[in-house]
Amino acid sequence: MARLRLGVLISGRGSNLQSIIDACAAPGFPAEVALVLSNVPGVFGLDRAAKAGIPCTVVNHKDYADRPSFEAVVDAVLCEAGVQLVCLAGFMRLLTEGFVSRWHDRLINIHPALLPAFPGLHTHERALAAGVRFAGCTVHFVRSGTDDGPIIVQAAVPVLDGDTPDALAARILEQEHRIYPHAIRLFAEGRIRVSDGRVHVAGARPCTGALVNPPL
Ligand code: GAR
Repeated sequence: MARLRLGVLISGRGSNLQSIIDACAAPGFPAEVALVLSNVPGVFGLDRAAKAGIPCTVVNHKDYADRPSFEAVVDAVLCEAGVQLVCLAGFMRLLTEGFVSRWHDRLINIHPALLPAFPGLHTHERALAAGVRFAGCTVHFVRSGTDDGPIIVQAAVPVLDGDTPDALAARILEQEHRIYPHAIRLFAEGRIRVSDGRVHVAGARPCTGALVNPPL
């Protein structure tokens, strides 16, 4: 069966991209990375793509007068590569309503928080300042608000005494690398349906049990 063609958009080190590349290399994984696109030249994620033999391209937003003209080129590159699902993986540019609606329900993002809590920047600092006992990460369909849209998969991790933003980020990142490929698999297998702003996953086992922090 044909594998789903992914376009992965990055702006930096690309550790989530790497987790997707690694997942796609496993036999039977129902997707492949058709293209990696960075809006920032010279980032490490581009080296990861090149090493995996994946076509990669830079569309530098600084070369364009406004967002729509930048996004028109991004869109053309994705279409040219036959991309079927766009995966934002540390892509740090806001996308306009035009681009988001053009890729409606074919555009997903990962964010290092349990959305809708802590969208935007400085997520870990804000989670620690709020004193939450759990943090985590979310893969979601993209809508026009920042880090907004129907939630596909989340993973929760405990916040520990003495956590720094970096320590918490590292604990969450480990889970990001698990849930992004999981969400892509669910999508590629045609198991995801969006209705009334909520995602329904066909054939998912129920998630049971509860985490308590501090433990009982
Ligand atoms: C990841 O933690 C990702 O969740 C976050 O940027 C990091 C990119 O790391 N994305 C956002 O904050 C989006 N709002 P990576 O380049 O190593 O994948």
